[in-house]
Amino acid sequence: MPVTIMIGAQWGDEGKGRVVDSLATQADVVARYSGGDNAGHTVFVGEELFKLHLIPSGILHPRTVCVLGNGMVINPVSLVKEIDQLAAMGIDVTPDRLIISTRAHVITPAHIALDALRERALGAQAIGTTLRGIGPAYLDKVGRSGIRAGSMRDLAEFEALLRAAIDPTNDHLREAGADIVDEARVQAILDAAQRLQPYLQDTTAYLNRRLRDGSQVLCEGAQGTLLDVDHGSYPFVTSSNPSVGGALSGLGIGPKHIDRVIGVAKCFSTRVGAGPMPTELDGPLADRLRGTGENFWDEFGTTTGRPRRCGWLDAVLLRYAVEINGFTELVITKLDVLSGFDELKIAVAYEVDGQRLDYPPATVAEIERAQPVYETLPGWQEPVGEARRLDDLPENAAAYVRRIAELCGVPVPVVTVGPERDQVVQMA
Ligand code: GDP
Ligand code: IMO
Ligand code: MG
Repeated sequence: MPVTIMIGAQWGDEGKGRVVDSLATQADVVARYSGGDNAGHTVFVGEELFKLHLIPSGILHPRTVCVLGNGMVINPVSLVKEIDQLAAMGIDVTPDRLIISTRAHVITPAHIALDALRERALGAQAIGTTLRGIGPAYLDKVGRSGIRAGSMRDLAEFEALLRAAIDPTNDHLREAGADIVDEARVQAILDAAQRLQPYLQDTTAYLNRRLRDGSQVLCEGAQGTLLDVDHGSYPFVTSSNPSVGGALSGLGIGPKHIDRVIGVAKCFSTRVGAGPMPTELDGPLADRLRGTGENFWDEFGTTTGRPRRCGWLDAVLLRYAVEINGFTELVITKLDVLSGFDELKIAVAYEVDGQRLDYPPATVAEIERAQPVYETLPGWQEPVGEARRLDDLPENAAAYVRRIAELCGVPVPVVTVGPERDQVVQMA
């Protein structure tokens, strides 16, 4: 069957970009279905480092058509910037390669200003958003007062909608003593809207036509299951559904087409932004997992540059992600980072208020009280970046991956051992 959905199994930044880049060799269409430019997907090809925020990572394969689905929220200015950056790197993002859903929602400068204002008002309780206007844009969408991308087709109509949204926001910003959305930003989004007009299409009709024609569609998840507005540690989540349901509603396709649902998980945990993280480490162990920032793959945000919180792998949450998404398999990334540890820990259960749980509790307060129950595995000293087959891995590295598969109850056919395209180990 023709649809593969690839989803982050943790709190984002699992290495989805590089996994999509590898899966896209078999895809005709690569489609993003949720989120916006809060995402930052890194793909390293040859000597070139691509950082994609809105455009699917499949764009790097000349044969694929990329889709920005109806479930997304799109900042037109960011999108035009990304198109231009890719053009400067030799990737031509023409309207026959990128299609934007007329039903997607537009992030306006008012949404971005409101994101900052709300975060500031929350003070110590701030979510730690990417400040890209994601929450306010989805709020307008479900509040039925958003602006859809299709309205950019008629610039006069789009300008009227934009001003009707910005004027009251500016009153609110003035009252709060914050900077208002100035005319330069209004003009910038109008210019971007004009540039994007040729890319707008009914992507639901397009995708279903391609599926009828037998094309292979790869859905590129953004964020991660644990940031899902329904399934994550609410309110420390994003405002969309990065998990499997979001792919169907965010693209307008039915479940009968789905063949594989691939979860991507890092072999340890990272989180950027606030919210509970039971296996979080501090001190030298966390510093080692994070790296110093001198390598591009070190744990510093692709979108915001913030250092990511790091910790041991949490198999309680990973199993939860497997259930929510119905993963058929897991890809485990960054195994190379674990070389050189004497021992490694995996959380296999929690203790909450004296009770042992093998399932995450539903409230933030309970997760914050959860004490991880760890299993300790022996580490390995050898670097693994050159491994390509199971036999090339040190026995303890292979055993670590096998244990993840056992704990999660799904196969792990592929492990990555470095950011480059060929740094992939086939486990079977
Ligand atoms: P995404 O948001 O899920 O696409 O992930 P990010 O791109 O934000 O962060 C993942 C980072 O890890 C990127 O810098 C990747 O180049 C890097 N990366 C991916 N796989 C591997 C791997 O196997 N080893 C190492 N060292 N880095 C990796
Ligand atoms: P990719 O696709 C990691 C986090 C933010 C914050 C919360 C809400 O690169 O994996 P938002 O701006 O969405 O309202 O922020 O979600 N967040 C991400 N963390 N990777 C991402 O995307 C993220 N997108 C949002 O840090 O905690
Ligand atoms: Mg990222």
